[in-house]
Amino acid sequence: MVSETLALTWYDAIFDRHSTRNYDGRPVPDGLLDALAPLLSGFAPLCEGARAVIVADSASEVFTGLVGPVGKITAPPVALAFIADTSHPHYQVATGYLGEGIVLEATSMGLATCWVSGSFRRNEAERRVTLAASEKVMALTPLGFPASSETFGAKAIRTAASAHKRKPLSSIVSGLPQKDWPPGCGEALEAARLAPSALNRQPWQFNVGEERVTISTSGLDPFPIAPVKLDCGIAMLHFEIAAKANGLRGEWRMSDKAPQVAEFVFTHSSL
Ligand SMILES: Cc1cc2nc3c(=O)[nH]c(=O)nc-3n(C[C@H](O)[C@H](O)[C@H](O)COP(=O)(O)O)c2cc1C
Repeated sequence: MVSETLALTWYDAIFDRHSTRNYDGRPVPDGLLDALAPLLSGFAPLCEGARAVIVADSASEVFTGLVGPVGKITAPPVALAFIADTSHPHYQVATGYLGEGIVLEATSMGLATCWVSGSFRRNEAERRVTLAASEKVMALTPLGFPASSETFGAKAIRTAASAHKRKPLSSIVSGLPQKDWPPGCGEALEAARLAPSALNRQPWQFNVGEERVTISTSGLDPFPIAPVKLDCGIAMLHFEIAAKANGLRGEWRMSDKAPQVAEFVFTHSSL
């Protein structure tokens, strides 16, 4: 479980975070990188199976200029590589959960980020980190300060507005009617709804019961480079920190009943 202090900081960051693809090239102060360092090896048991590494060596060369509405990542001074240990049974969820904690911490420091699992050069990324035989780079984020075109450009604002679109809660939540949800559950589901996902596909479904909330994958998993369980790991972190910030006690337990991914079991005192 994420500590109370981290949860409160990261809860605010959920509402501030958005993907930034154009950077102004300014270096990230060492003090900020040092402050991120303790999180890189994990901050909670669910991070087991994943770790992150700072890539400071010509980070911009790692990203490709993929065509499409999402565009190219330009001029990031630094990147973070999210590394999965594929021998771990839950490495995909772990990578999403760990990576998003670091992304939210960076957001709270005023740094911009963008999850990237498709538009990067694997050989360039893996050449810059040391990997064990069972490890691979699953995703990266650039890290830095946004270019002024990102901050003020009307086009960028329009693009961001549509990229930020999310499915309504009514289409991703089933189970108990909202009036019977325990206190804090609505806020936790709303935070999960805002989670970033590859191609903004939001491949999750939640079911609210008397004792637990389950998360399942929805739809197919056609892109092995961006597994839907990684997205679910991100949404699980959002749910957990919003639950903690809003007084809903409980913890995630992994599930082996696909398409169910995990269940957030309420601690009795919160009912
Ligand atoms: C696992 C993952 C992989 C992603 N891969 C890419 C990518 O390869 N290229 C890219 O430009 N954006 C990528 N994104 C960013 C998403 O497009 C973005 O999060 C989504 O559109 C929602 O927008 P927001 O992050 O601004 O809320 C990825 C996001 C996630 C969570």
